[in-house]
Amino acid sequence: MSTYFITGATGTIGREVVNNLLTKKEQVIAGTRNTQKVQDVFENSVTGVYFDYEDKTSYQEVLQSDGIFLLGPPLNPGLYELLEPFVDYLQENYKGRLIYLSGNGMENLEELPFHKKMEEKLRNSSLQWNIVRPGFFMQNFGNYERENIQDRNIIFSPAGEGKSSFVSSKDVGNAIAKLLTDQNRIKETHVLTGAKAYSHFDVASMLSNLLGREITYPNPDENTYKQVLKESGAPDFIADYMIPVYGMIKQGKVSEVTTAIKDLTGQEPESLEEVLKRDFL
Ligand SMILES: NC(=O)c1ccc[n+]([C@@H]2O[C@H](COP(=O)([O-])OP(=O)(O)OC[C@H]3O[C@@H](n4cnc5c(N)ncnc54)[C@H](OP(=O)(O)O)[C@@H]3O)[C@@H](O)[C@H]2O)c1
Repeated sequence: MSTYFITGATGTIGREVVNNLLTKKEQVIAGTRNTQKVQDVFENSVTGVYFDYEDKTSYQEVLQSDGIFLLGPPLNPGLYELLEPFVDYLQENYKGRLIYLSGNGMENLEELPFHKKMEEKLRNSSLQWNIVRPGFFMQNFGNYERENIQDRNIIFSPAGEGKSSFVSSKDVGNAIAKLLTDQNRIKETHVLTGAKAYSHFDVASMLSNLLGREITYPNPDENTYKQVLKESGAPDFIADYMIPVYGMIKQGKVSEVTTAIKDLTGQEPESLEEVLKRDFL
């Protein structure tokens, strides 16, 4: 049995990594700024330890592990600067494996270069890295659009008419657990997608069928999106972050479908319909 240190363990992807490692009977240490959160999510199956990228005194907790899953929190344009001191620390002190969560298409996104910069840093390091680039998570609809769907009968993202090969966070977690535990895999980069690409019109139509009422996709342009977010009280940086991210869908840059989930986990990826059913019914 090996021990793995999981960052972001209380979040969407991290908790799936943890769940999969537990089914493999591996030992897990969950890094968190609030150990009570780990207790709430995993009860007593996982040890939660205090860990904060902004607090260097918390870094040494990782040294007792054989592998690390490295995840940066979302909606932070300064993500590279947040993670950099920790990665520098690892370079000096750590011999184990490291899996970094990047994002499909983000390696070319000039407006938000943090994943690109971190990928480059890892590639040029002496660390035992692997990189995963998942597509848009299927769970984004439940996590970020729930109120729009439930209260306003819309999905509201500046994604245009483009298609996106959404992937389930559960499949991403399973693929990461495989990479963490397989000693033979090193310095690999995997683009993780579901089996099919969908536009936001397709998703609205799927939700309409599932929920038995009409959900529409108004296809907002960037100015309308920005204005609506502002009126709802969201700070400007959220629109400034989301517009280039959803622009990748609009410009058709993230519609590629790969077989990486099946190749890594041996299982077919979950379908968008399965995930939406689980999240909304
Ligand atoms: N959403 C998508 O479609 C998509 C697609 C591709 C890639 N991504 C990438 O996925 C990442 C987000 O993953 P997610 O959705 O799983 O995130 P999430 O659910 O929002 O969870 C974020 C996690 O980060 C931890 N965290 C926040 N600040 C921290 C700090 N200062 N030090 C240590 N830990 C901290 C939190 O843990 P505690 O609160 O317990 O400390 C939390 O568990 C981003 O890097 C994003 O670019 C997202």
